[in-house]
Amino acid sequence: MAHLFNRNILLGVSGGIAAYKSAELVRQLQELGAQVRVIMTRGAQQFITPLTLQALSGNPVHTELLDSEAEQGMGHIELARWADLLLIAPATADLIARLATGRADDLLTTVALATAAPILVAPAMNQQMWHDKASVDNIQTLIERDISLIGPAEGEQACGDIGPGRMEQPEVIAARAASFFDSGLLQGRRVVISAGPTREALDPVRYISNHSSGKMGYALARAAVDAGATTTLISGPVSLETPAHVKRINVQSATEMLEQCLDQCSGSDIFIACAAVADYRPADIQTQKIKKGPEHISLDLVRNPDIVATIAGGDPRPFTVGFAAETNDVVPYAREKMQRKGLDMIVSNDVSNEGIGFNSDDNEVTVIWPSGEQVLPRATKASIARQIIALIGARICANNSENQEK
Ligand code: PMT
Repeated sequence: MAHLFNRNILLGVSGGIAAYKSAELVRQLQELGAQVRVIMTRGAQQFITPLTLQALSGNPVHTELLDSEAEQGMGHIELARWADLLLIAPATADLIARLATGRADDLLTTVALATAAPILVAPAMNQQMWHDKASVDNIQTLIERDISLIGPAEGEQACGDIGPGRMEQPEVIAARAASFFDSGLLQGRRVVISAGPTREALDPVRYISNHSSGKMGYALARAAVDAGATTTLISGPVSLETPAHVKRINVQSATEMLEQCLDQCSGSDIFIACAAVADYRPADIQTQKIKKGPEHISLDLVRNPDIVATIAGGDPRPFTVGFAAETNDVVPYAREKMQRKGLDMIVSNDVSNEGIGFNSDDNEVTVIWPSGEQVLPRATKASIARQIIALIGARICANNSENQEK
């Protein structure tokens, strides 16, 4: 059953009589698990109040393009980036015409231009307007631009006409929205993902760690669930909520992470090592707090086990994907790391760039496998994660067919 857990749906409501159905649509989307935010055009507010949709969605409704308060909080670019799907329902003939001509004359059309998320449009208009050559041409333009349509449905219209033009039923639209994310690519597969930092204790109150927030690993877990996988996260200490339908195991140190990874990877199909594991740990953990003493002290550190290399060295072993946090010569270093650790794939990111990598919402990576590589340009970690999962699915299929040919 398709769902919208972990999904941000931006619902655009334009000014037609079907706008009253958007209240039910918000409810249907939420029942499937979505977070919903609403943008209303000026016309929509003539049919249903922002207050109604605010109360139902649990979020402020956005109405103005130029609103200094909104720009400091959720302005048009933030909304465009927040959305996993822009759903416009109802979409009037006028709104469709403005989308087709690329206008940016209100908040909804501006967000439609600014978003990288897919767009799903549910037209609603009089049947004669739907059949008009201008509307037909506009709809064709949207289709050519990969904007998806749902409906319109046929039947008796508010104006008394009979024919196509009614907005599709909210439950049908919500199910179509959910189907956008239901790739089924990893259906039936077991995926284990490590995420976040490790903490290597020095004494009862101090530790060695790094700036990993867990965002990349958690985004991968969401994407794996969406692809149909049974997903386990082995997580260092982070302040993120566990994604829906994900089993989470908390660990602190690299040694604990290794133990859990070995346990969970047995019988799994895919292991993705996204955690920023400390390479060294203190040779001894002091049982008492270390007292301030001389001007200089030295720490005796020992190498931690290499978790991803250990999993990749198992037999049988899952399809094993590592990450490479590099600051220079990113791709050659990452390729060498993939070979040295015996991985099937590695995802390299440049962690010297502040806007991506550690503790940021975006990333930009090159995914490398023995016979190829693909650059994934800067995008949200959610989007990068979905693309990585798609590439993993594609590589597993390719490996399977190569093995069958042998
Ligand atoms: O958590 P975020 O704030 O979202 O940031 C994401 C990230 C930058 C942490 C992530 O994208 C990333 O790059 N993770 C890997 C970080 C890292 O430790 O890279 P590395 O190049 O040092 O290690 C290479 C690989 O070996 C990694 O898959 C790592 O998990 C693994 N490793 C490293 C050391 C060790 N002892 N055991 C390991 O398994």
